[in-house]
Formats: sequence, C-alpha cells, structure tokens
Amino acid sequence: MDARERHLRLLTQTIEAVNSTLDLEEVLAQVATGVAEALHGDACFVYLYDDRAGELILRATHGTAVDEMTTRPRMRPGEGITGLAAEERVPVMIASGANRDPRFKNFPNLTEDEYESILAVPILARGERLEGALNLRTRAPRDFTQDEMDLLLAIAAQVAQSIEHAKLYAEAQRRVHELEALARISEAVSEALYLEESLEAIVKTTMDALAATGAALVLEDGKVAWPEGKADVHAIRQPLRWRGRQIGELVADRSTPFTEAAEELLGSIAQQAAVALEHGRAVMRGVLAQEIHHRVKNNLQTVASLLRLQARASDNIDPRKALEDSVNRILAIAAVHDVLTERREDDVDLAELLGRLRAMLVQSVGAGREVQASFEPVLLAGQKATSLALVFSELLGNAIEHGGKHIDVTLVQEGEEIVLAVSDDGPGLKEEEPTGTGLSIVRALVRDELRGSFELTSQDGARAEVRFPAQ
Ligand SMILES: Nc1ncnc2c1ncn2[C@@H]1O[C@H](COP(=O)(O)OP(=O)(O)OP(=O)(O)O)[C@@H](O)[C@H]1O
Ligand SMILES: [Mg+2]
Repeated sequence: MDARERHLRLLTQTIEAVNSTLDLEEVLAQVATGVAEALHGDACFVYLYDDRAGELILRATHGTAVDEMTTRPRMRPGEGITGLAAEERVPVMIASGANRDPRFKNFPNLTEDEYESILAVPILARGERLEGALNLRTRAPRDFTQDEMDLLLAIAAQVAQSIEHAKLYAEAQRRVHELEALARISEAVSEALYLEESLEAIVKTTMDALAATGAALVLEDGKVAWPEGKADVHAIRQPLRWRGRQIGELVADRSTPFTEAAEELLGSIAQQAAVALEHGRAVMRGVLAQEIHHRVKNNLQTVASLLRLQARASDNIDPRKALEDSVNRILAIAAVHDVLTERREDDVDLAELLGRLRAMLVQSVGAGREVQASFEPVLLAGQKATSLALVFSELLGNAIEHGGKHIDVTLVQEGEEIVLAVSDDGPGLKEEEPTGTGLSIVRALVRDELRGSFELTSQDGARAEVRFPAQ
C-alpha cells in the first residue's frame, strides 16, 4: 500500500469516526490511535482549547499514557511546541532533538523526552477558530514530508468539525436536561395543593438536576425552609426574584465544583421557585381574606341580633347603660376575632380567650372586685367560641354588677362536656328565674349555639353554670 493510499484511508477513517459518535472523548481517542498508526508514529497527543481558561488541555493520547488524568497537562498557546503551532496556526516540525529544544515543555506526569521528532498542527474550526492542537511523535529522528503535514492538517480540520458537533450536542443535551428539570418543577407546582408541596418539589428537583448533596430555600427573613440532604464544600446560591425584589434564595451544595451551566440551571429553577412562592402566597392571602370576611359577617350578624334583643327588652331602659352593655358585648366578640386572626387557626384556646375577657371586664367595670380564675386549656371552634365569649362576659358582668366582692370563675372539661361556672359571694338571687337582656342572651346562646344547658342557683351568693358538649 503506497503512502497516498494509506493517507486517503486514514482520512476516510477519521471522517467515519467523527460521524459515528458524538462523544468527544471517543472521537479524540480514535483520532490519536488512527493518526499514530497510519503515519507510523510512536505517539500522538490531542489537545483541546478551553477558551474560557485560555489553555490547551490534553484530552487523548496514543503511545504514552498520562500517569494521572486528574491533573491533565495543560498549556497556553505559544507555550511548548504544540502550543506554538496553536498560536501561530501553522504546522511546527522538529525532525530530531525535539526533547532538547528550548521551547519544549515538560509535564511531570507525562513522559515525552524519549521522542526525537515532533509534528504539531493546530486544530482550527472553519480554518479560523482555535479548537485545539495535535501532535505526532517518533522515537527515531524523522523528517515529515509535506504530504504528511498536509494530511495531518486535513485530519485536524475534520477533528475541528467533530469537536464543534460534540460541543453542540453537549449543549443540546444540557438544554434537554434543563428543560426536563423545569418541566418536572412546573408539573409538581401545578399539581401541588399546598405551597409547601411545591417548594418541597422544587428543592428535590434541584438536588436531582444538579446532582447536589443538599439544597434549600432560604426566605427573606433568613429562615431556611425545606432543607434537603446536607451541606458540602462547594455551594452556589441564586436569588428568588419577584417584580425586581429579592424574596429568597435557592441554595445547592456539592462535593465537586459547580459549572457555569449548573449555575444557570439553578437560576432558571430559582425563577420557577419565585413564581410558585408568590403564587402560593397570593392563594393563601385570598383564602385568609375569605375566611376573615366570613367571620366578620357572622360577627356583625351576632351584633345585630344582640342589639335587637336589647331593643325588645323593657320599656324603662337607661340608654346610657344599654350602650355601655352593647360596647362590652361587641368587645367580647372582638376578642374572639383577635385570637382567631392572631393564631390563624380555626380553633380558639378558651383559657386564653376567657383570660383576656376577664382582664378586659375587671379593668372596665370590676373596680374593687377580686376575680379568681382557673381555666383549663380547652379548644373550641371559632363560632362557638364567640358564643361562649358573650355568655362569659354576661355572667361575669352580672357577678360584678349584682354580686359581692369575691368572684370565682372556672372552666373545666368533664369527659365530653365543657363546664363554665361563675360564682360570687353576693346577696344571691332575688327571684327564682330572673330575666333581663343579659340573661336572655345567655339562655339563647347556650340553647341555640352551644347546644347545652344553663343553671342559675343561689347559695352563699349566686352561681351560674353552663354545660355544653365539647364537639
Ligand atoms: N350574680 C348575680 N347576683 C345576684 N343577682 C343576679 C346575678 N346575676 C343576675 N342577677 C339578677 O338577674 C337579673 C337579670 O340579669 P340580666 O343580666 O339579665 O339583666 P341585668 O344584669 O339586670 O341587665 P343587663 O341587661 O345589663 O345585663 C338582674 O337584674 C339581677 O337581679
Ligand atoms: Mg346583666
């Protein structure tokens, strides 16, 4: 087989190799071996140019292995003989004594000094952009022919193309990967019923997509929400932005450094997270607003029926007292509303509620009275709590108004029943079944709202007792 034929075959083989795979490592390994064999060289090294670092990095070898690939030999264009070919964009040949040439660059983990000759060519895409360089070595001195130089240049041009393709492919793969991650997030966010679920899905997808050891969302107040996995030596963070304002941060950790592409991906995920967070909050605000609206409406209805009851009462009412009573009743309703809105729960802790009402009443009308209170922590739904608050303020109001110096109030749960008792050491009841606006409110609420019973007895003062089911 003559040289021309051999060269032609090498070129065809290179093109085949280039077209058969999009995996750059594989192409470069095939090129190194193909070139060395066809041109009867002892070694062939292929370097790729990293334009961000501005360095040529050894990516494939034939003939001499690199001891430890973790520190790949790298050099700047212009450095060493291959670097010179890259910088000058022309083939550089040294027929003998290449290893003693002052331009020669030595790498501790790459033994090259056994080679007498070198032919280095640049790898140029479309004849202009530097993609790398490759060289062919022989142990014996060798004068490469013009033909051989041309062949190596032609191969380098093919390699340049395959590098471009592989880069495009890797970029496309990265995009697909990124889109898949984002699609998973959108899906999780749109399927999630609660904000917490969305944010959890975002943090989990972040870990998957970035092969991170840990990830977390950090909110404005610095609170770390939804941490997953664990922290590691390398960390990146991307802001969650909403309408130009930073509303949090998405953080990821890994044992290996994050690439620029990973950072970009985290940025896109953070964008989704910001939308999910704001959307979730808006929904929450809407739900909360509706709940509060509902409660306010109920309260206004209660106030209206209280006023109606009062208007129907007796003929000789003192308007000033009537107004004062109404104010106290409305304040009792307001106290329940306060507790409900502060806690953002549907149930009210009666101990807390009655404690507040007691303080309020003692302060406004209870001068000189000693009110002993003992409340068990019992939970009651909002609407019923409002009724009990009104009942309690009427009973305590009566004890203060009509009773003695000492007043005793207790709230206990007895099995399925809640028992509220207000007793005082005053003169007791003048008649068996006294009625006024206050007591008719109490009776109506206990019967219709609390579905319980009410008893007013007289023995060493008056004692009022309300019993109603806890449910
Ligand atoms: N703790 C008590 N000790 C003695 N008498 C009481 C006590 N509680 C209620 N009464 C009697 O029952 C009556 C009716 O009470 P009710 O609360 O309905 O009306 P009121 O307190 O007179 O006026 P208001 O409508 O402002 O409450 C009172 O006027 C009082 O005579
Ligand atoms: Mg009263």
